[in-house]
Amino acid sequence: MEQGMMRAGVESARFAGQVVVITGAGGGIGGACALRFAQEQARIACLDIDAAGNAQTAERCRTLGVEAIALPCDVTDAAAVEATFAAVAARWGGIDMLVASAGIYTGAPLEELSTAQWLTTLHVNLTGAFYSNRAVASYLRERGGGSIINISSMAGKTSWPASAEYSASKSGLIGLTRSVAMELAPYGVTVNAICPGNTLTNMVVGVAARVGAREGLSADAWLQQRAKDCPLGRLAHPWEMAGVVAFLASQDARYLTGQALEVDGGMVMS
Ligand SMILES: NC(=O)c1ccc[n+]([C@@H]2O[C@H](COP(=O)([O-])OP(=O)(O)OC[C@H]3O[C@@H](n4cnc5c(N)ncnc54)[C@H](O)[C@@H]3O)[C@@H](O)[C@H]2O)c1
Repeated sequence: MEQGMMRAGVESARFAGQVVVITGAGGGIGGACALRFAQEQARIACLDIDAAGNAQTAERCRTLGVEAIALPCDVTDAAAVEATFAAVAARWGGIDMLVASAGIYTGAPLEELSTAQWLTTLHVNLTGAFYSNRAVASYLRERGGGSIINISSMAGKTSWPASAEYSASKSGLIGLTRSVAMELAPYGVTVNAICPGNTLTNMVVGVAARVGAREGLSADAWLQQRAKDCPLGRLAHPWEMAGVVAFLASQDARYLTGQALEVDGGMVMS
């Protein structure tokens, strides 16, 4: 989904020359993060299993005048993740930032949720982020600083029916974030998560179709309902997530670590 991927008028260059690895860069939030870092002059490594979407993101970054590469990588393959991060570090002399955005949402009521759906979601959303955090740690330590931003969800802080596997994976990701933040703090590395609310990407459109059908609503009607539920009265655009991710990676957030920030229009207030 192209809608709202990039915020117009970003003119700062906070990340000039820095290297960012983004998993799930072929998708909505990861893609928007790639474009935001490109607008701010970073070098971007786009990782995804969706070769076409990933290549498109990297190409859009290059049109903004920065170096960007698309690397096929399944985050559930530990060896592939290690090798891909090593290739990025070898190409550009290190890595400064990781955005772990690769994720999936199956979504089924508990008694219909298959073991395979449970394991696959945990594998991609939690174990995949673990592999990515582990793979980047030594490069960030070598740099003497840097940032990891894990894309959790408001489902990591609260829950609703038919989301057991997703909610468990996203809560787990907050726990992972806190522990890694403690371990890497002595090296000047900050590690945070964001917890997006409903954001207009392919994922949410898919969820709207599946869950809407279960509730007797069209996808559009289901999305309108979610907008009404939100204190700000609308869904988010991916670039609104990217802006917060960029802030967390910036010098302005150097004293902010181990947090899981709700970026959800006020859905969860903790
Ligand atoms: N859209 C929302 O409303 C929303 C809300 C809260 C959290 N999130 C989280 O934000 C992140 C990004 O989601 P999105 O909305 O951009 O969805 P999306 O489906 O547009 O993008 C997800 C990307 O992850 C990639 N991916 C899936 N499995 C992968 C794997 N094994 N290895 C590598 N890449 C893989 C997909 O190919 C896709 O490009 C996810 O972690 C999601 O759980 C999304």
